[in-house]
Amino acid sequence: MKQDVIKLSVAPAMARAAEYGLIWRNQMRPLDATASAEELRASFGGRVPENGMNETDVIADLISAAEPGLVGNTRPGFHAWVMGGSSPVGVAADWLTSVWGQNAGIYQCSPAAATAEEVAAGWLLDILDLPREASVGFVTGATMAGFVCLAAARGEVLARAGHDFDADGLYGCPKITVFVSEDTHISNLTALRYLGFGTRQIAKVPCDDQGRMRPGALSDMMRCADGPKIVVATAGHINSGAFDAFDHIADIAKVFGAWLHVDCAFGLWARAVPELKALTQGLDRADSWSTDGHKWLQVPYDSGFAIVRHADAHRRAMDISASYLSEAPGDGRNPTHFGPELSRRARGFAVWAILKSLGRDGVAQLIRGHCAAARTLAERLGEIDGITVENEVSLNQLVLTFEDRRQDPDALATDMETALNEDGAHFFRTSRWQGRNMLRVSIIEDGTDTAAIEKLGAKIERIWRTVRH
Ligand SMILES: Cc1ncc(COP(=O)(O)O)c(C=O)c1O
Repeated sequence: MKQDVIKLSVAPAMARAAEYGLIWRNQMRPLDATASAEELRASFGGRVPENGMNETDVIADLISAAEPGLVGNTRPGFHAWVMGGSSPVGVAADWLTSVWGQNAGIYQCSPAAATAEEVAAGWLLDILDLPREASVGFVTGATMAGFVCLAAARGEVLARAGHDFDADGLYGCPKITVFVSEDTHISNLTALRYLGFGTRQIAKVPCDDQGRMRPGALSDMMRCADGPKIVVATAGHINSGAFDAFDHIADIAKVFGAWLHVDCAFGLWARAVPELKALTQGLDRADSWSTDGHKWLQVPYDSGFAIVRHADAHRRAMDISASYLSEAPGDGRNPTHFGPELSRRARGFAVWAILKSLGRDGVAQLIRGHCAAARTLAERLGEIDGITVENEVSLNQLVLTFEDRRQDPDALATDMETALNEDGAHFFRTSRWQGRNMLRVSIIEDGTDTAAIEKLGAKIERIWRTVRH
């Protein structure tokens, strides 16, 4: 009887959200937000509520306030950024994650949450063919994954130089130099700042026209630096999708005793596809890898993985232990040993569910399909006068420039963005890269197949004809 009362008090709001969620995911909603910041503030805003209100009405109000500010990254046609679409099975598992309300801090808080992560971690290492003994932290995304990996790197290179980071922190430590590509993703610089590295400790290595770090320059620069060293390479450049020359870079890192980290927010997933795996040649020789679950694997936000070859260094950097956080001999792994948080969401359930629903083969098909679509689009657009595909399309990214002798190319890219977005069927954004304004095309949403891409190619051609005249 008591249980019935509890059920009635929580169920209507949940039922309303679930019912709405199913409808929302099946509707063709606008891809871009339709309300301005001011309008959204007005819908969400107002004074602090003095009195509570009915929960179902709150959910109805949340829906009407949020909807005009929602962006369509769960739908095909969204090409603006490398963002995943929260696959239905991932959302279902994520709903359960909320319903169960588990705290994935330590094993005993939620043996199920800890075990789902432990098992999913093993599956990830297997599918991505990374060292099976590596440790995996389930974090909020690639930025935090990079932070975790680089924290492990910092402790380890200092330990090798005879400095005890745990005891002395950064006080009196030898200067560490971190080598990043001059075109590294901004999140790596942010993670380094969180870890106590300023711009004077970061050496920016020149890169080629695809954003790939030049190994010769790296070697020269490392030769000139004293003290412990960390190298940050990239698998899947944010604009071009390019991969660094990992074998070469790993050789250099070895010569200088450096820790090699790879930011592979989305590029790592090429390893799941047999015919694309060669793009990542030598990547498995690194010491750590940061990647996203919420991009290509379509895990609902937030999901990222910090993968470290040296589990001890990983654990030393992140460990949270205290006597009240009980551990017993038969316990499984404690999630908090491998991430920056103690109490947190049980991120492993959705990852486990998606990997189980796709299987190794399904993951490969997902990535393969997007890369094939990107190549098809590149071939199609490459034939159109005035459009240049600026990158070598090896993954899922295209960057386009537009040229017409009467008009400014930067303005043309923006005009194309506006015109392409106008009918609401697609959503693009431009980015400044190599000093030019370029239209980015990221192909990562589930359902973006070759047929959809052929239609898109025809649309870009049609719109280009109107924009250039
Ligand atoms: C190459 C690369 N590294 C890191 C990140 C940061 O990932 P997140 O936004 O999941 O923290 C991104 C995001 O787009 C990226 O493309």
